[in-house]
Amino acid sequence: MPESITGLERLRSFIAIATRLASPQALAQTPELATAFADLVGHDDWLPEACTVPHPQYYRQYLLHCDPLERFSLVSFVWGPGQFTPVHDHEVWGYVGMLRGAEINQRYVRAADGRLAPAGEPTTLRPGDVERLSPAEGDIHRVSNAYPDQVSISVHLYGGNIGAVSRHVFDVETGQAKPFVSGYSSATLPNLWDRSAAVRAALG
Ligand code: FE2
Repeated sequence: MPESITGLERLRSFIAIATRLASPQALAQTPELATAFADLVGHDDWLPEACTVPHPQYYRQYLLHCDPLERFSLVSFVWGPGQFTPVHDHEVWGYVGMLRGAEINQRYVRAADGRLAPAGEPTTLRPGDVERLSPAEGDIHRVSNAYPDQVSISVHLYGGNIGAVSRHVFDVETGQAKPFVSGYSSATLPNLWDRSAAVRAALG
């Protein structure tokens, strides 16, 4: 993406790239998409203020855009101090990119006795870092705000309408899976389409 673009134009530009890559079939994890996503989260000048607001008790998942054919969705994940997810899966692929603060990602695998065991050491994502999720490679994890005293924000791209995907949360001790549909924290979307100022400026 050109360095000259900022704000909502940056978000709109990424969505246009993803939509082009998704046509006519499903969007897939490709180097071109990974590069565009890394570029998006490598700049912190575009996320609308309304999609950065934490909740005192629960982490927030704000929908930024959903493809009309539900081939992909983009959300901002806002962590209040010390907040964390249950252990969960996704059922669709994803990219997680850190925008502000930091988050800790602990992956899990199912052990022979059916319980879930940590898969390796937790990793920490910092601004600009991108983590890839793939159900085929094992995508069960727990994510936590790395900070007990400050808000962190990551941006997630998923290969479906993530808020409406039927997926699972897990009891770590027993390995038991329970159905989980996350929904979204917001009832409105950022308005990407009021480009009137740029059009007026071009008129001179
Ligand atoms: Fe996740």
